[in-house]
Amino acid sequence: MSFHPAMDYGRGRHQSARALPEEGEPFVYTAENRATLDGILAHYPPDRRKSAVIAALYLVQRQQGHVTRQAMRHVAEVIGCTPEEVEEVVSFYTMFYTRPVGRRVIQVCRTLSCALMGAERVTEALTETLGVRPGETDAAGEFTLVEVECLGACDRAPVIGVDDHWHECQRPEDVRALIDGLRTKGAAALTGCHLRVAGDTE
Ligand code: FES
Repeated sequence: MSFHPAMDYGRGRHQSARALPEEGEPFVYTAENRATLDGILAHYPPDRRKSAVIAALYLVQRQQGHVTRQAMRHVAEVIGCTPEEVEEVVSFYTMFYTRPVGRRVIQVCRTLSCALMGAERVTEALTETLGVRPGETDAAGEFTLVEVECLGACDRAPVIGVDDHWHECQRPEDVRALIDGLRTKGAAALTGCHLRVAGDTE
C-alpha cells in the first residue's frame, strides 16, 4: 500500500501552468499600480529592473485577477526584458494564474510531508465541500481549488494556502468549518503563523 497520492501531473495546477495563457484584452497598469511599480523599480539599478518581475506580476494579478499574454508583454516592456522571460516566471510559480480564478484560491500542498500527513484526504474533503475538483472554480466564482507543491511549512503539514496566507495542520474533518470561516471571517479563519505575528487578519 502506498501512502503517497497518485501524482497525476495532467490535472490541476500543472495542466493550467503548461497550457498557453490566454491572450486577453490589451493591458496597462492603472495609474495607482503603475506608481507602485515605479516606486519598486526605483530600488533597482537601471540594468536590473527585470529583477522586479514578481512584484510586477503581483500587481497585474491584483488588477485583473490573472496574468494574460497581453499583460506579460506589458510587464516585459516596463521592466526591460522579453515576454518569454516573463512567461517563464509565470509558469514556474504556482501563485500566478493564467486563467480566471475565483475570488479566493485554495492551494493544497501535495508534496511529501503533506502527502504523508493526509493531504489527499484534505483535497477530497475540499472537493466534496466545494463541489469542484482541483483546477476548477465553483459556480459562484467564490473558490478555485488547486494542488501545488511544497508551500514551505512542512513541519505543520498538511498545509493549504488561501490567497497569500497559510492554513496549517488541516484535517479533512475540519474542512467545512474552514470554508464557513473563510466566508464569514476571511483571513481571520486561517492559522498561518505569520498571521499571528503580523496581526494581518483582513
Ligand atoms: S511538503 Fe507541504 S508544505 Fe512542504
